[in-house]
Amino acid sequence: MTGLPPRLSPVELAAEALRRGRLVAFPTETVYGLGADASDGEAVRRIFAVKGRPAHHPLIVHVADPDALDTLALDVPEPARRLAVELWPGPLTLVVALRPGAVVDEVTGGRSTVAVRVPAHPVGRLLLRTFGGPVAAPSANRFGRVSPTTAAHVRADLGDDVDVVLDGGPCPVGVESTIVDATGGGLRVLRLGGIGLDRLAAIAGDELPVGGDTAAPGTLASHYAPRARVEIAPDGEAAARRAAELAREGRAVGVLAPATDDLDGAGREGRPSVEAPVEPVRLVVPADAEGFARLLYARLREADEQALDVVVAVAPADGSGLAEAIADRLRRAAGPR
Ligand code: TXA
Ligand code: MG
Repeated sequence: MTGLPPRLSPVELAAEALRRGRLVAFPTETVYGLGADASDGEAVRRIFAVKGRPAHHPLIVHVADPDALDTLALDVPEPARRLAVELWPGPLTLVVALRPGAVVDEVTGGRSTVAVRVPAHPVGRLLLRTFGGPVAAPSANRFGRVSPTTAAHVRADLGDDVDVVLDGGPCPVGVESTIVDATGGGLRVLRLGGIGLDRLAAIAGDELPVGGDTAAPGTLASHYAPRARVEIAPDGEAAARRAAELAREGRAVGVLAPATDDLDGAGREGRPSVEAPVEPVRLVVPADAEGFARLLYARLREADEQALDVVVAVAPADGSGLAEAIADRLRRAAGPR
């Protein structure tokens, strides 16, 4: 017999890394997460150090199966349970009362509540199942920046600060999970995301209030921002006009708008030529909200790669829940006015 270790799959290696207190970036259906064993305080503290995230911003706890909710939470209210049953696995995060000791204090910032999520990505879920315990994970980007939707984005942001990057391809949803707080006596949406308000209302039997008093940093203005300034235009025509104006002022401009919008005069795809700096760059996204969401963050990253000064953006107008989430992220990228 040789002393060679048995061959481990990438998922088994990643699960082993988690057990050893390492940080593992893994795919979910929304964005890539930067995971650590939620029972290992030192590992969780490293997440905050690597992200540059303030310690009082709590992390989402990821588990493979909906049944694990009761191992993390106490007294889950009936309406929250209904959402879990209908929407997990999927892009919903539930904030519930923490079962004392279920995760280390570093995960929740010492709060008595915990955010729980069962992601739907097959690779992410297999990792969680193989690891076998709860995994604390924020999005795998530096604090305040655009979330990563590919393994390459994670490497570009975090470099060697992340021990393992598990590549599951591009994330199929592309914006973060919808966060619903169930600890205030009813249900309240803390962050718009992959599950639309329409869907939540249909399951809960009533419209859920949005926002309110929350410490969730994902609800801060100027979050999810590229380096380029983001301006929002009501439609393609207005975007084209504004982009042309900015270009005439000598700015490097990009137009991020649904593919069907009337963008004549809004420039071409690709890099603006040196001779014609007035030509804005088209950051093309599909017209439907699902396609738009999937590519949103990749396009914002491209804006930075192309050193654009300004991105003029138009949100999809189909009135879907996902379109609302995209409009929300664009507003946050644009920052406070
Ligand atoms: O789609 C997602 O949710 C991704 C993937 C990786 O799962 N994760 C993600 O994590 O977006 P992060 O850390 O970037 O955002 C988590 C949000 C933060 O705004 C945080 O404040 C909030 O969840 N949160 C976590 N625990 C909370 C709690 N106990 N009460 C209120 N908000 C909480
Ligand atoms: Mg984040």
